[in-house]
Amino acid sequence: MIYMLDTANLKQIERAFDLYPMAGVTTNPSIIAKEKTDFLSHLKEIRRIIGEDSLLHAQSLGRKAEDIVEEALYMQENVGGNFYVKIPVIPEGIKAMKMLNKKGVKITATAIFTAEQAHIASVSGAEFVAPYVNRLDNMGANGVQVVEHIVTLFKEHQLDTKVLAASFKNVQQVLHVALAGGHSVTVTAEIMDNLLKHPMTDWSVDQFVQDWENVYGEGKLVHQL
Ligand code: G3P
Repeated sequence: MIYMLDTANLKQIERAFDLYPMAGVTTNPSIIAKEKTDFLSHLKEIRRIIGEDSLLHAQSLGRKAEDIVEEALYMQENVGGNFYVKIPVIPEGIKAMKMLNKKGVKITATAIFTAEQAHIASVSGAEFVAPYVNRLDNMGANGVQVVEHIVTLFKEHQLDTKVLAASFKNVQQVLHVALAGGHSVTVTAEIMDNLLKHPMTDWSVDQFVQDWENVYGEGKLVHQL
């Protein structure tokens, strides 16, 4: 399973790409709007930070297929690199997916709440589908189960589309998506940190340092002895 960062915050992106095995960045109009900057130059700046090979997912605006297609082509041309256009699974979005698929544009179907939406997006040419795990959980549904169903559908029907599970509130949801066979997740910077956090890990590291320094001196590393 690969990890992506669900943010447009440049500092968070820089830090996570420095520390962790990040495969890419996902954004949506709400995430970009939070940064209150020029949309295109912001996407270009994200591209500069993460490099040409990392996946960058940005959403097409518009509710008509022709508008979605035009936006997608414009963004792809201007942002470049390993670019994915995110398209919501509304009927006009599905039409846009079919059109963009013919043009060779890579597609991430988004705002997915049912396995059937994911299946239709897949046969329309989406390379990733993004089910919204926490938004499902918040509605009293089961986000992880929807991921499980999508993974099963893709296996049963030999579809190459990958699940990019999105909308997480906690580490447990990420774990259960991984156990369900989800191919990728996109998480906030906070959840990315929390995936590694454990007080016993910190305690153990403190203990190692203390025991070592009691004998070899404060701040001394092996190569400095
Ligand atoms: O990528 C979609 C995701 O950003 C939605 O997350 O936390 O707003 O439900 P959230």
